[in-house]
Amino acid sequence: MKWNKRMVRNLYPLLEKYKTVPATFIEVGVQAGNTSRWLLENILLHPLSKLYGIDAYDYSLLHRKERAMFDIALEGVKNLQSDYPEKFKLLKGLSCDMLARHIMYCGYFAENSIDFIYLDANNGSAFKCLYDFYLSWPLLKIGGTIIINNNTKFHPSVQKAVLFLFNEIEKNNGSIIAMRDQLCIRKVA
Ligand SMILES: C[S@@+](CC[C@H](N)C(=O)[O-])C[C@H]1O[C@@H](n2cnc3c(N)ncnc32)[C@H](O)[C@@H]1O
Repeated sequence: MKWNKRMVRNLYPLLEKYKTVPATFIEVGVQAGNTSRWLLENILLHPLSKLYGIDAYDYSLLHRKERAMFDIALEGVKNLQSDYPEKFKLLKGLSCDMLARHIMYCGYFAENSIDFIYLDANNGSAFKCLYDFYLSWPLLKIGGTIIINNNTKFHPSVQKAVLFLFNEIEKNNGSIIAMRDQLCIRKVA
């Protein structure tokens, strides 16, 4: 399925409610900023809404296909920063470092402050995918949603992490609201 169709099918019904209110989102793994741009153009329309993008932009971390896109990714995110200087903030660094900053010292994010988190960085490691999830979870507001992208046979590590979460999530006050190629979990308490 084409990327854009998938966004519209999966994300739009979940996020439509944020079009008219101030909302704060995080995307972990921004690359060229296609999803970030879609969110900024279609959902984060309120003047006080904000999107934090986290990406290491570290060539050595990338897979072969992503390496071929490295320059395009840098160019894309640069354009995004200049198109949305108020709404889009890039946090350059490893996802676990950026997400965990609030734990030890006054960091970027407060607990229970984020409406939506899109995890799309560590697609090659189940453990790292789970770190991102567990570091993100306390940041999410009650009623907020996390999506883990790429729950497909082409990303067996993500599928492994998703299977683990499927059995664990209710203990963390989460409820699975969709589980197709993207796992969507809502924080219910
Ligand atoms: C699949 S791409 C993201 C695509 C983007 N979400 C989109 O929809 O267009 C994965 C991105 O995650 C970043 N990344 C991979 N591992 C990371 C890590 N441990 N910390 C931060 N960023 C990471 C890569 O630099 C790459 O840009």
